[in-house]
Amino acid sequence: MNVFERLESNVRAYCRAYPAVFDKASNARQWDENGVEFIDFFAGAGVLNYGHNNERQRQAIIDYMQADGVTHSLDLHTTAKRTFIERFEDIILKPRNLEYKLQFTGPTGTNVVEAALKLARKVTGRSTVAAFTNGFHGMTLGALAVTGNAHYRNVSGVALNDVLRLPFEGYAGTGVGSLDMIRQTLADSSSGVEAPAAFLVETVQAEGGVNVAGKEWLQALQALAKEYGALFIIDDIQLGNGRTGHFFSWEDMGLDPDLVCLAKGIGGFGTPMGLLLIRPELDQWSPGDHTGTFRGQNLSFVAGSEALAYYENDDFLKSVQEKGRYMEERLNNIVANHKKLNFEVRGRGMMQGLDTHSPAIAKKIMAAAAKQRVIVGACGTDGRVIKACPPLTIEQETLERGLDLLEAAVNEGVTQ
Ligand SMILES: Cc1ncc(COP(=O)(O)O)c(C=O)c1O
Repeated sequence: MNVFERLESNVRAYCRAYPAVFDKASNARQWDENGVEFIDFFAGAGVLNYGHNNERQRQAIIDYMQADGVTHSLDLHTTAKRTFIERFEDIILKPRNLEYKLQFTGPTGTNVVEAALKLARKVTGRSTVAAFTNGFHGMTLGALAVTGNAHYRNVSGVALNDVLRLPFEGYAGTGVGSLDMIRQTLADSSSGVEAPAAFLVETVQAEGGVNVAGKEWLQALQALAKEYGALFIIDDIQLGNGRTGHFFSWEDMGLDPDLVCLAKGIGGFGTPMGLLLIRPELDQWSPGDHTGTFRGQNLSFVAGSEALAYYENDDFLKSVQEKGRYMEERLNNIVANHKKLNFEVRGRGMMQGLDTHSPAIAKKIMAAAAKQRVIVGACGTDGRVIKACPPLTIEQETLERGLDLLEAAVNEGVTQ
């Protein structure tokens, strides 16, 4: 029995699908301790958008450390944090005409969601938050309450309250019509439904099965939030940071969210950072209202500042859009080759999902993917969707090879 099985908690999960012991990694490839190569179509679920060991980020971190830069600073000011904030303003906010205050939270996504929920409740004085079927927002209790997945919810051991669960677009029919019911109940003083503190939504539900919300539905949702004095919060933790071919997943949709949750790829080297963007008039925190020891992650500020260079012009985002189209085309070909199974491709940019509509088939494909040595994730209801989200920096040749391996895994999985 190896040391992981002997001593690491039963809670471990991904390593059960890929039991290799990984040792080295570069961009979209990683090698186990025997030198066997895997292609990474998982990218730390959106952490490694700029690849494993991104050279620019690595050099910046090495330089910073060698110069005795401050690595941990609670929420004290540091030069690394100042550089990050200034670059975020210059490269991301100003060119998009966006005005947000930046709140650094504890460094994981769930920390950011907790801060967003707490702030929305504080600002509105309301307790309920509207969240969506199949939504995924994290494992701490507030974020878990707004998460849909029963497997995660059932182990919480406490009531997960103060949530108004609504159907995501497509769940109960497509189009803006799916919001009519909630509009009607909010307008009816006898419906028993009170206006929530916020509507919290992912533009593409990644863990929830790569479910894509359309522009019109999102605009209608935002309008509804505004109409009822609720905050409109976008959780861009997995789909932000360039994944869709735009820095924010919502920026080409005419949306104007009150709060935006960012984490994962905002540090981007595997160095964690949690960042809540707050419309300035909603920054109603008092000093110390919401703290956390690990808010001063200076290696993440250094890596994150370097990552922002990818957004200084359009070249990088254009390449993401092109690679995204290529992925979609290849996945559609796979679907066409197995017509009878009614597989479906969904996604935006370099977040693409293959919905097998069958947890049993998806499980077989996952097992075959491990044999083919392409790292993908199973998501959606009972793991029936195979999710492909490679580093955005993946070379075209590696992308093609990874898709070949995924295609072989699907062929093998469906014939077993
Ligand atoms: C949209 C979204 N929100 C929140 C989270 C939680 O982030 P973390 O696991 O870093 O707490 C995730 C993680 O997958 C996510 O995809």
